[in-house]
Amino acid sequence: MRAWQLEDFGLDNLVLKETPTPKPGPGEILVKVTAVSLNYRDKAIVDGAYDPDKMPKNLIPVSDAAGVVAEVGPGVTEFKPGDRVMSHLYSHWLDGAPARDEPDYCLGLPLNGGLAEYMILEASSAVPTPAHLTDEQASTLPIAALTAWFALVEYGRLEAGQTVLVQGTGGVSLFAVQLANALGARVIATSSSDEKLQRVAEMGAQELINYRTTPDWAERARELTDGQGVDQVIEVVGGDGINQSVHATRAAGHISLIGFLGGQVAPLDVLPLLFSQVQIRGIAVGHRRAFLEMNEFIEKQGIEPVIDTVYGFEDAHQAYEHLARGAFGKIVIRVTD
Ligand SMILES: NC(=O)c1ccc[n+]([C@@H]2O[C@H](COP(=O)([O-])OP(=O)(O)OC[C@H]3O[C@@H](n4cnc5c(N)ncnc54)[C@H](OP(=O)(O)O)[C@@H]3O)[C@@H](O)[C@H]2O)c1
Repeated sequence: MRAWQLEDFGLDNLVLKETPTPKPGPGEILVKVTAVSLNYRDKAIVDGAYDPDKMPKNLIPVSDAAGVVAEVGPGVTEFKPGDRVMSHLYSHWLDGAPARDEPDYCLGLPLNGGLAEYMILEASSAVPTPAHLTDEQASTLPIAALTAWFALVEYGRLEAGQTVLVQGTGGVSLFAVQLANALGARVIATSSSDEKLQRVAEMGAQELINYRTTPDWAERARELTDGQGVDQVIEVVGGDGINQSVHATRAAGHISLIGFLGGQVAPLDVLPLLFSQVQIRGIAVGHRRAFLEMNEFIEKQGIEPVIDTVYGFEDAHQAYEHLARGAFGKIVIRVTD
């Protein structure tokens, strides 16, 4: 099969090669990959900024894939050839509390991912593709959508009528806007761009804040909530901004700490957190049970992912470069027809 392999850190070292098609072992399925989508994590892995010590030799990168079962290994009862499936990033985290070693079983690092014509998945971890989505659309769900769902619903217990602040218009955030809106919540969206804010408004965000022209966006969020603050913040930026997120959240409200776009260290001003009793919850995507529940919801609601651009398999470098420049919605790579 043809596969992109990371021979060393840096995009120049991501090379397209011929490599033996893997055989599914007991409990495994071989998936013919139709499409993958990129996440910030995939770029950070190539740059050597994400768990570089775990990098194996000639890694096939990219965790999020959708495709068709080509072959099943001994003992597999969950799937048969021809079934449409998606990957699940935390391949051993199926339900309940996470184990300490979940990151050891993540696809796209340290396990091989889907930027190849075929990939191996454990049958217990693969997820059936929602019928209303194409494989290109489905490939965007495993990290970006599940992270937003896990934050809002599994941990956040979002209720209709509550208010959610969503930071920026990246992959996780756009899914958060769609899901929160479908759950009947009021959405306050932030972005560096008025044009992007108009687009999130069309997707259902009711209140808009440009965080460039309104750097004190947390104070603005307080004004928009009668001085009380929002029920939940989808925090994808981290860094110093964490203190603004605490300020933007109502007493005993909930911050889902998801991203590190603004830095991997967040100096926390402790007293405002204590006085407001805000809960900050670290999020690591989610487990498979929540993935299944989310799919049921998005199918019922007819939610379709926002895709910015679909690249051809040979154009993987351009896809990574587009992700680095910024996109509105997901960057997808079509792998096979
Ligand atoms: N913990 C987890 O489970 C998990 C899962 C998925 C992602 N993540 C992390 O979450 C972050 C976002 O991931 P993603 O895939 O959604 O990224 P992405 O698609 O690359 O998002 C980029 C967008 O973030 C917004 N942004 C950047 N700096 C900002 C700032 N200072 N304030 C507000 N918004 C800002 C920008 O929106 P505008 O252009 O509109 O300004 C930008 O377009 C990354 O750090 C990623 O690693 C974590």
